[in-house]
Amino acid sequence: MEKHYTLITGASMGIGRALAEECAKRGRNVLLVALDGPELHTAAQEIVQKHGVEAHAFGLDLTATDAPLKVYTWCQENGYSVDMLINNAGFGLGDILDRVPIGVYQKMLRLNNQVMFEMTYHFLPQLKQLDKAYILNSSSMEGLMPMPFKAAYTATKHFVTAFSLSLREELAETGVSVSALCPGPVVTNEDGLKRIQRSGRKAKLVVMYPYQVAPIAINGLLKGKRIIIPGVMNQIMILVNNGLPLALRMKLLRKIGAAVIPKET
Ligand SMILES: NC(=O)c1ccc[n+]([C@@H]2O[C@H](COP(=O)([O-])OP(=O)(O)OC[C@H]3O[C@@H](n4cnc5c(N)ncnc54)[C@H](OP(=O)(O)O)[C@@H]3O)[C@@H](O)[C@H]2O)c1
Repeated sequence: MEKHYTLITGASMGIGRALAEECAKRGRNVLLVALDGPELHTAAQEIVQKHGVEAHAFGLDLTATDAPLKVYTWCQENGYSVDMLINNAGFGLGDILDRVPIGVYQKMLRLNNQVMFEMTYHFLPQLKQLDKAYILNSSSMEGLMPMPFKAAYTATKHFVTAFSLSLREELAETGVSVSALCPGPVVTNEDGLKRIQRSGRKAKLVVMYPYQVAPIAINGLLKGKRIIIPGVMNQIMILVNNGLPLALRMKLLRKIGAAVIPKET
């Protein structure tokens, strides 16, 4: 039987690292992609030691021209047949829009959207040939509700959600299942922790950690869920939010978004 692999972008730390661990724990071979650095290679070594599966690392800047094609070529050249593609690499920022240099936005739009699209585009023909294959795209709760003061980020995540939902229906007659992962705030680093601390007590109710998100994400993906929202509080928040008139909804979201704007330095 052909050996298969789960490919995870942004797998050196945070949610991506936890997703890689979760897949390996379930006996899946993993391919870890992130910026080249010690964390990435250590992550692969630790996964091999802990879970006894294959783990291979490919370090590159995914925002570089043709980087997604290079990842695909790396898999082809090494005979890695991917049956689960996890487009997780991405980042966000919240601030007054024109206070942030345009280059930062350009990188975010490229990583969150174009890279996810190009990875999917390159791997799709091969995924379609399999009886069962999966694509998990990392969106966000902010890919389900527009967030003021994070206008560009929330727009990138709406792109991810819409792309995932639409492509899923296009692939209904194939064995490829597409899901969008929509977590609320997840503490993955010091900056994230500071942001949560700025947001006050209520925000802390919805905060999760990568090790909590990962099993929910993989269970949801294997069950073929369209949208995966980890955490009951987050699910309730989306339900309540969707039930409100748009003007009121946006007023409330403005308050939430304004609470996390960094202080001017
Ligand atoms: N954390 C949250 O609160 C949250 C909430 C909802 C959705 N999300 C989404 O979940 C995903 C993961 O978020 P996270 O918080 O876990 O991120 P993170 O901790 O910052 O990790 C990001 C990962 O992406 C990699 N990466 C960043 N830029 C890259 C580039 N140019 N080329 C290749 N790899 C790159 C990083 O690699 P290196 O570190 O090695 O550079 C790292 O492995 C993102 O799409 C994010 O938008 C996060």
